[in-house]
Amino acid sequence: AQANGPSGDLNLELLHKLETQDPLQTQDAFPHISQAEIKGVLDRLSSRLMVTYTTHDSELVALTKEGQQICDEGSHEFKVWDVVRKSGRLSLKDPALATPQAKIGQGNAFKLKWIKKDGDSLVPIVTDSVTDATQQLLQEVNDHKTMSDPKLLKDFIKRKLVTTQKVITYTVQKGPKWAKEIPVEAKDLTADMLQDGSWKTATFKPYNFNALGEPQNAGALHPLNKVREEFRKIFFNMEFIEMPTARFVDSGFWNFDALYVPQQHPARDLQDTFYVSDPAEAGPPGPDPSADVALDAMTNTNSTKIKLDYEKYYANVRAVHQDGAFGSIGYRYPYNDAEPRRLVLRTHTTAVSAYCLHRLAANPGPVRYFSIDRVFRNETVDATHLAEFHQIEGVIADYGLTLGGLQAFLQLFFDKIGVSPLRFKPAYNPYTEPSMEVFGFHKGLNKWVEIGNSGMFRPEMLLSMGLPADLRVYGFGLSLERPTMIKYGVNNIRELLGHKVDLSFIENNAAVRLDKD
Ligand code: PHE
Repeated sequence: AQANGPSGDLNLELLHKLETQDPLQTQDAFPHISQAEIKGVLDRLSSRLMVTYTTHDSELVALTKEGQQICDEGSHEFKVWDVVRKSGRLSLKDPALATPQAKIGQGNAFKLKWIKKDGDSLVPIVTDSVTDATQQLLQEVNDHKTMSDPKLLKDFIKRKLVTTQKVITYTVQKGPKWAKEIPVEAKDLTADMLQDGSWKTATFKPYNFNALGEPQNAGALHPLNKVREEFRKIFFNMEFIEMPTARFVDSGFWNFDALYVPQQHPARDLQDTFYVSDPAEAGPPGPDPSADVALDAMTNTNSTKIKLDYEKYYANVRAVHQDGAFGSIGYRYPYNDAEPRRLVLRTHTTAVSAYCLHRLAANPGPVRYFSIDRVFRNETVDATHLAEFHQIEGVIADYGLTLGGLQAFLQLFFDKIGVSPLRFKPAYNPYTEPSMEVFGFHKGLNKWVEIGNSGMFRPEMLLSMGLPADLRVYGFGLSLERPTMIKYGVNNIRELLGHKVDLSFIENNAAVRLDKD
């Protein structure tokens, strides 16, 4: 669709008309073609220097239905005068005078001294002929689409006899390369053209600097990654340190036991948790060198100097479960040492939070940790659940923290992604007390949505790690998929993640700013 396109014939028609009619007014030459189509043709031909044109904005006056009727049949006053004149004397009660138009006409005919009242009848003053000025003016409009007297125009618009409409018209002239045909245009200068000399006479297709290029087949960030980056920025701006979550497999110890999830808890069932079969078992809890290196880099610590007694920590955890300790009465069941060694696909990133909090015991103090990474749950897959998803998790340790402080922090945090105000609902987690579900008013969706889970880590969890008694720790978690689905208007999670994802959706979706929902 280059030289010809949808209005191919129009190109030629215009070029032909210019031969005898130069300059040419488009509304006269093409009264039934839309301005947009004309403009397309003009731009195409002018880019090839075949025509030049100027644009005019003007206002046309058009008759309304009532205006057209007066133009054809005469004004209301003319019609009243006409019936009175024809009858010689017309009773005021005559049905011909009953319409609203006849009432207006009657008043005007009095003013013009065409008729007068005589008793309860009307009689003509003028008997031969009258000049119907209104009709004449409307006939002008009908013929020329203009009205010269601006005062009268205003009056007629008010009386709903005419309307005005803006129109764009073009004056077109032959350009330096005008011809009756659009020449065949070369798109490239080829070696052949150079050799046979045809380049000298060839017409080259002009560059269209406004054309959108071919879509590039480049890589694209997944929407989840874009939203993840937004959250990372928010955390970094609030002085959080990113936790080393770069492992999907963890031991039952960090995923469950250290968080005091009872060994018989349904969350630990095969139906809820994926267990790894090869290898099936981890060693006893101990330092994770790669996690420590990552933490060292971010916290300016030196892990080789950090001494932590993992055996004692394990014994403490075991004691809390089985007999109670650190103020807890315990679950009072015989602790099974096989459970903490089972390898699992981590069911939450809180497994890594537990590792980091235990490590904090070597050098306790205020700190803010976050992570955004993948977790796995043995769920029935449906429109809103997959067997794997991403958790956003935050942990804040400090002295003198209170539940009100956690609520205030969450308010601050969610306000940054356009969710406020918040509501809190008491909840239960084995590792936090009190625990709160978080609901937020989503301004974009204009409704309350459940957005996360939170709480204050239990004292027996922190004390068994060796953290000081007056250090309090907030924790909160939410899914990354939820805000991403809301942000991109995706209703089915399988459109976002997995084998059914439409790649063009990934490639074409926009950058994201969470606070501008
Ligand atoms: N682990 C919780 C979840 O999976 C989130 C959470 C983290 C809750 C930390 C409290 C403290 O929903």
